[in-house]
Amino acid sequence: MSISGREVILGVGGGIAAYKACDLLRRMQDHGFLVTVVPTPAALNFVGSATWEALSGRPVHTQVWEDIPNLLHIHLAQVTDYIVIAPATADLIARLAHGRADDLLTNVVLASGVAKLVVPAMHPEMWADAATQYNVALLRNRGLIVLEPDTGRLTGNDIGPGRFPETSRILEALHEIHMTKADLLGKKVIVTTGGTREPIDPVRYIGNRSSGKQGFAIAQAALARGAQVCVIAANCSELELPGAEIIPVETTAQLGEVLKIKFPEFDILVMCAAVADAKPLLVSPEKIKKQKLTSINLEANPDLLAQVSATRRVGQKVIGFAAETENLLENAQAKLVAKNLDILYVNDVSGGAIFGSDSTKGSIILSSGTVISVSEASKDTLANVLLDQLT
Ligand code: CTP
Repeated sequence: MSISGREVILGVGGGIAAYKACDLLRRMQDHGFLVTVVPTPAALNFVGSATWEALSGRPVHTQVWEDIPNLLHIHLAQVTDYIVIAPATADLIARLAHGRADDLLTNVVLASGVAKLVVPAMHPEMWADAATQYNVALLRNRGLIVLEPDTGRLTGNDIGPGRFPETSRILEALHEIHMTKADLLGKKVIVTTGGTREPIDPVRYIGNRSSGKQGFAIAQAALARGAQVCVIAANCSELELPGAEIIPVETTAQLGEVLKIKFPEFDILVMCAAVADAKPLLVSPEKIKKQKLTSINLEANPDLLAQVSATRRVGQKVIGFAAETENLLENAQAKLVAKNLDILYVNDVSGGAIFGSDSTKGSIILSSGTVISVSEASKDTLANVLLDQLT
């Protein structure tokens, strides 16, 4: 996909770094992007419309009340391929985070489903403030890419994080967005991962060897493809994924509860968690003495995937996982049908090699009956191959 001819809206916020956006605009043009500048009204205090119009060769507007017959905000939102907001001030970030539409730029952002790159620049104190950080997290959660500002000298004598990043870094980020498939933009993906644990007594549990790596790889890939992502993580050591909502759980019952509440609002479920199939009938409130620990009465857990899949609405997609040591395809086909899935990835776990490892092998089975064999791939690769099957 060539860059040449790609339309970019350059949103300019009202900060002193606006003058650096003039160079950014020039360099974007050098790379073949066609740029329309949409400054906020405050930004014009630093760089005026005449400069932007001369540099971009295009008309410049700041309010929805201008050029009414052309329905500016909708037109701009529809023709652009990317939106780059540079510099993004604390106020502009706050307005974006809260879905305000009080000037042309914020209207365009709301009206457009394209990938958005936000380039903050402000004083270190304003950047570090809890309100700004909260707003940045909101934007990242919604799939916008927010760069970290550079650290260095700012206006006056202040030094710290808040500087407008080097133009090359912004262009690099824009190229990365351009190269990445953004086929999940606007989609909400929920991933369960890890393995549930069922307590026997206060110190022991029944569990399994799932590490959660595959689910986190899928969540990461979905984020990169523009989705809004939630991870329900059952006993995972890795609990960080900037941009995703993470909900830690321990037992099957907790996982089921969260899933029941969350599933209706998501477009895609990836059920990667290894769910304990059974739990102790009784959980001892005291540690069981070893002499008495000779047998444990179990009761079956519900099949969460089958339960939740039975409630799906039209358009919701469900991907299941299976772990098998024998008759892989046969067992997997039966699970795909029984659990009403669109896609099932069956792990070949013979020998236990996959647990905790960075690679996987198995087969992807589609509801159409197509089988895609996966031989020794990284969990990141599998994540993208699986997501490719959704489109
Ligand atoms: N699963 C679930 N609830 C369970 C058991 C499994 O939601 N109680 C889900 C898993 O998250 C996975 C899929 O069902 O996506 C298949 O899991 P797997 O353990 O391979 O199959 P089971 O249905 O448990 O069957 P078996 O253990 O007999 O192979």
